[in-house]
Amino acid sequence: MTGRASLALAALLLAACARADTPVAVAPPLGLPPLPLPATNPLTREKVDLGRRLFMDRRLSHNNTMSCAMCHVPEQGFTSNELGAAIGIGGRSLRRNAPTLYNVGYQRSFFHDGREPHLEEQAWSPLLARVEMGMPSMGYVTEKVRQLPEYRGLFEAAFGGPVTSERIGQALASYQRTLVSGNSRFDRWRYGGDAAALDAREQRGFGVFAGKGRCVACHRVGEQSALFTDHRFHNTGIGWERAMQPARASYRVQLAPGTFVEVDGALLSAFEPPQADTGRYEVTGTLEDRWAYKTPTLRNAALTAPYMHDGSLATLEEVVGFYDRGGIANENRSPLIAPLGLDAEERAALVAFLKTLTGDNVETLARDARSAPATLPVPARDAADVHLESLLERP
Ligand code: HEC
Ligand code: HEC
Repeated sequence: MTGRASLALAALLLAACARADTPVAVAPPLGLPPLPLPATNPLTREKVDLGRRLFMDRRLSHNNTMSCAMCHVPEQGFTSNELGAAIGIGGRSLRRNAPTLYNVGYQRSFFHDGREPHLEEQAWSPLLARVEMGMPSMGYVTEKVRQLPEYRGLFEAAFGGPVTSERIGQALASYQRTLVSGNSRFDRWRYGGDAAALDAREQRGFGVFAGKGRCVACHRVGEQSALFTDHRFHNTGIGWERAMQPARASYRVQLAPGTFVEVDGALLSAFEPPQADTGRYEVTGTLEDRWAYKTPTLRNAALTAPYMHDGSLATLEEVVGFYDRGGIANENRSPLIAPLGLDAEERAALVAFLKTLTGDNVETLARDARSAPATLPVPARDAADVHLESLLERP
């Protein structure tokens, strides 16, 4: 099945190379259902290649420093392993953790609060956010891409017409939809009939996941496939606790990949006031949705640390300990979350199981991302706009 699925995918991709506008069909790997595709944006080889280029291009930010890939780092599970909350243009910190983009094409809503229903439109949020890529307007982005020589002819080849904001979103969505990753050891064990793909402890861990740990109530596992999400929003208590917490004395700020400094909280809040986060409530205005966040997929969890919407849990051991204690009690905590009474062996088995969810093609997808033609960052227009980010190198 492994070989067959990837061969079929490779054959289709190859066939698609042959002529412009050839549809690409992503054959679902073992453990994943067919990929939903919108009729208005069929996948083609040209769009995927163009989207990959845009995804990797730092010139999509106002001062040519931030690409999508600098927060969704291909080699770090398409997230940022070193940052709890993401850091954007000018060293400005975001309130949330960058989620993985593996299998993002299966999501029914986007962002931790699900505020965006369409992947085609999602990209405008980071592109235009003052703290992320800092572009002034959709028209500005479109014009800038139109003037970049590397894109000459590519929109015409992919869409039969010039650069438009809609096509930028469609190309980025097309590329991200190809980040499908399954056929993990767990998939081979559960869906591929390979009884030896998981060892005894990992199998016990799945037993805890589906039984005493009640994880499957939200992280769903089906008979034919598993997305490990119910596409819904739940309050585990993390958001509530953060809202109740007094401001911290100091914050960790990244200067360069792997280089951090502790910055005095009072100093930081002088120019960046703490940002409130009430989760799903910000979308629905319903009191019960306060501090509820989207159930994330657990596929590739071993690669996507740190965890939760604010990146506050550093390891899978911490996550399992958190659930074992029943999350954090508050008036809106999900009734599906309560102390579990797991012993040390059950907790260790659960962690071992979560580490079996790594797809078999993650390295290939990371390499493919870097195969986008390198684009040289052009000098920042306005040196005054460059603060810490001038130290942030392409990861
Ligand atoms: C400064 C860091 C940063 C940059 C740059 C960035 N992102 Fe993100 N991305 C995030 C964070 C943080 C979130 C979660 C935000 C939230 O929930 O409010 C996110 C969420 C997403 C999601 C939703 C995933 C899900 O499961 O809900 C997608 C898709 C995405 N980003 C794609 C992109 C694309 C495409 C680009 C480039 C145009 C991009 N991002 C640029 C940090 C970043
Ligand atoms: C009530 C529904 C629910 C149950 C039950 C549940 N989870 Fe979650 N899980 C969530 C939600 C919602 C989040 C995201 C929370 C956030 O972003 O703050 C999450 C996040 C996670 C994450 C972090 C993923 C990431 O990329 O950040 C892991 C790992 C995880 N859960 C594992 C488990 C395990 C193991 C169990 C069983 C012990 C479990 N969950 C039970 C809803 C649930």
